[in-house]
Amino acid sequence: MSLREESSTAHAPAKTVLRGAAISGSLRRASANTGLIRAGLQIDHVDISDLPLLNTDLEAAAGAFPLAVEAFRDKVRGADCFLFASPEYNYSISGPLKNALDWASRPPNRWGDRAAAILSASGGSGGDRSQYHIRHVGVALGIHFVIKPEVFTKAHQLPRKFDDDGNLVDPETREQVRKLLLALQAFALKLQGKSADSE
Ligand SMILES: Cc1cc2nc3c(=O)[nH]c(=O)nc-3n(C[C@H](O)[C@H](O)[C@H](O)COP(=O)(O)O)c2cc1C
Repeated sequence: MSLREESSTAHAPAKTVLRGAAISGSLRRASANTGLIRAGLQIDHVDISDLPLLNTDLEAAAGAFPLAVEAFRDKVRGADCFLFASPEYNYSISGPLKNALDWASRPPNRWGDRAAAILSASGGSGGDRSQYHIRHVGVALGIHFVIKPEVFTKAHQLPRKFDDDGNLVDPETREQVRKLLLALQAFALKLQGKSADSE
């Protein structure tokens, strides 16, 4: 699936270009969740590792944020849709992802009225509880989530789904990621009132 569709030719209508921003809730070098994002191809991974911990004292004045926060907020604002890939930590959202969600929610909220999909690679649960908490927070932010398919990946179960660098090597999971991204594309276009072939 490509969120950046091919450009038009003389014989084919232009395809709508969707700018997707993918955010991994894990900062680990060999993160399985970042591996899920890489498996999605052609969706930009927005790194959140240099965001400071949220502290509104860091806002110099209304709407003036630290540089890394400002850059992140700009990327969120510029995206048509979002893909969150996050581990479950203690039955909930990872701290880095919650921090990123909160920074871009500061007024003016940068998340609103866009489509999003969620992937998770976690321990025994596959990440279902964290996904439902992300959906819950998304209500406050005005994000509209793809409902199905749901993709819960047990990252450490044998046979191995990820190699030592966190690359996804399991074809079945790769197919699940592909289907979820297709659903995200369709939902994002629907929200924008466009079809995949609109000019
Ligand atoms: C602090 C902490 C809490 C965790 N809690 C859970 C949990 O509640 N449920 C679960 O399935 N896995 C849990 N895990 C396992 C991680 O979700 C799992 O290792 C995942 O692969 C980490 O994501 P990453 O590979 O992208 O870094 C926890 C891991 C850590 C470090």
